[in-house]
Amino acid sequence: MCGIVGYVGEQHPKEFLLDGLKKLEYRGYDSSGIAIKNNDNIQIIKCTGKISDLEEKINKENLISSKIGIAHTRWATHGEANETNAHPHKVGKVTLVHNGIIENATDLKNKLVNDGVVFRSETDTEVACAVISKYYKGNPIEAITEAIQLLKGSYAFGVLFEDQDKLYAVRKDSPLIIGLGKKENYIASDIAAIIKYTDQYILLNDDEVVELSGENVTVYKDGKKIKKEIQTSTMTIEDANKGNYKHFMLKEIMEEPIVLQRTLNKYINNMDQMVDISPYEEIHIVACGSALYAGMIGKCLLEEKANIKCMTDVASEYRYKKIIYDRKTLVILVSQSGETADTIAAMRKAHEEGIDTLAIVNVKTSTIAREAKQTLFIEAGPEIAVATTKAYLLQVAMFSLIALKAAHSKKLEKNYKEIIEEAKQLPDYLRKVLNDKDVFAGIGKEIKGARDAFYIGRGVDYAMCEEGSLKLKEVSYTHSDAYQAGELKHGTISLIEDGVPVFAIITDDKIKDKTESNVIEVESRKAKIYTITNDASIMNHHFKYVVEKISDYFQPVLIVPPLQLIGYYTALERGLDIDKPRNLAKSVTVE
Ligand code: G6P
Repeated sequence: MCGIVGYVGEQHPKEFLLDGLKKLEYRGYDSSGIAIKNNDNIQIIKCTGKISDLEEKINKENLISSKIGIAHTRWATHGEANETNAHPHKVGKVTLVHNGIIENATDLKNKLVNDGVVFRSETDTEVACAVISKYYKGNPIEAITEAIQLLKGSYAFGVLFEDQDKLYAVRKDSPLIIGLGKKENYIASDIAAIIKYTDQYILLNDDEVVELSGENVTVYKDGKKIKKEIQTSTMTIEDANKGNYKHFMLKEIMEEPIVLQRTLNKYINNMDQMVDISPYEEIHIVACGSALYAGMIGKCLLEEKANIKCMTDVASEYRYKKIIYDRKTLVILVSQSGETADTIAAMRKAHEEGIDTLAIVNVKTSTIAREAKQTLFIEAGPEIAVATTKAYLLQVAMFSLIALKAAHSKKLEKNYKEIIEEAKQLPDYLRKVLNDKDVFAGIGKEIKGARDAFYIGRGVDYAMCEEGSLKLKEVSYTHSDAYQAGELKHGTISLIEDGVPVFAIITDDKIKDKTESNVIEVESRKAKIYTITNDASIMNHHFKYVVEKISDYFQPVLIVPPLQLIGYYTALERGLDIDKPRNLAKSVTVE
């Protein structure tokens, strides 16, 4: 949700700022802007649309000479995506970019209007800017420190003061890192934006205020200087680029065998390192979007294999719901970014109730990674495409490992050793599926004109359907729904007409025949059936793809890539902006 970058050093900031914004565009892409400064002259250029539109506009302008600047790519929350609402905002001597939401903006705005402040935009950001401006009497650290006492909500700010040659920043519940270069320093929402320039960075905790010049970075807490540790990123420049792929989404799908290998290597020969959740009597898996669908697979495995009572919930519901914790409960938070606002809130709610938490996270520097009681890191590396692929696959694999460990601890799994051996072959099985990518490109061609699509399955197969359906709708804008196969006839079957694509996922031996009957019911209504299964003997209706039959624990991992590729190739056929689907953002740091 919005990306921010800032530069201070010896060069003109234009190149760094535009480069950084392009790397952060996945965080929001409805409008953008930059502010650069030379003494007390501040030049602000804003634009609706993509960063490429901003670049074009900047290239047409006469830029002032400058060695300091801030920039922003926006995913609109307060006020529509137009130039006035785009960041940076300027009030008095303060110019600012913001990621997050100021929840008490309306109250603050009313008071400031009474004080005579005139607001130009509808944004909460301009209000924050006015609050800092109100407290600014020549000392930026004091002004920011006082202002943030009044702000409720989440923020990462990059701030310029008209009469200061330094760059300032502060964050709370929104990501922000400080990059350390040679005679130049940076701020950014994430490492991808700075990795071309440096791998050295500092992580900020809530409400730490930073002052950056080209030579120095000083961090303050409550107005006092504090020491911070310097970290080194393992990200590479290649990670942040598409390479020979047309889209990050395809690149990231094709990386799945490598990242799976990396994640399995950590545990498969060393299951002692895997968290043992068997002592818990109840598990709550809480997440948003695809991460929740990975959790739904986890629930099936934990219940079926480890005999642990388990429920899943959408984080935005869980955080406000009455939860009765009457057993020894573990809350498992699943989040690629580790910054999803609702998932963070759900985690904090569990902590307030004294409940243990376990996080499955990709971004090691994230809020959830830092605050959860225990964390398991998937090793997906940076995921740039807005629609998650490789991270989701690893979340699923992590649940396979957690369930296997718990079942083994409870002495419920007699084939434990064989399953571990089989898991070592998983990356190869996955490669085999990905080598068939053209098969799924063919499906994309067939269904590109479809208005609706349906995904049906039972049990764990249904959980996979939810993700398959989400992938198709979010990147190709095809309306699609996932149903428990037996449920379709209770209403939705009325939507089945000649040629409607229905994807049937059939891997669970226990209920295979039941799903197969449901498939025949929709086929009788002339649906076009695409079956994805691990059973070569299942009937081929219109299309059938068979993956290797492996243990129930890891079977879902092989079903994931076909579903992702079908979404990808359908969007490709439709000529859409696959890495940045409309209205979405990758990291949803607002409620
Ligand atoms: C957004 C993304 C999804 C993602 C969800 C949860 O909606 O577009 O791809 O699954 O957030 O994100 P998280 O970072 O918490 O996994």
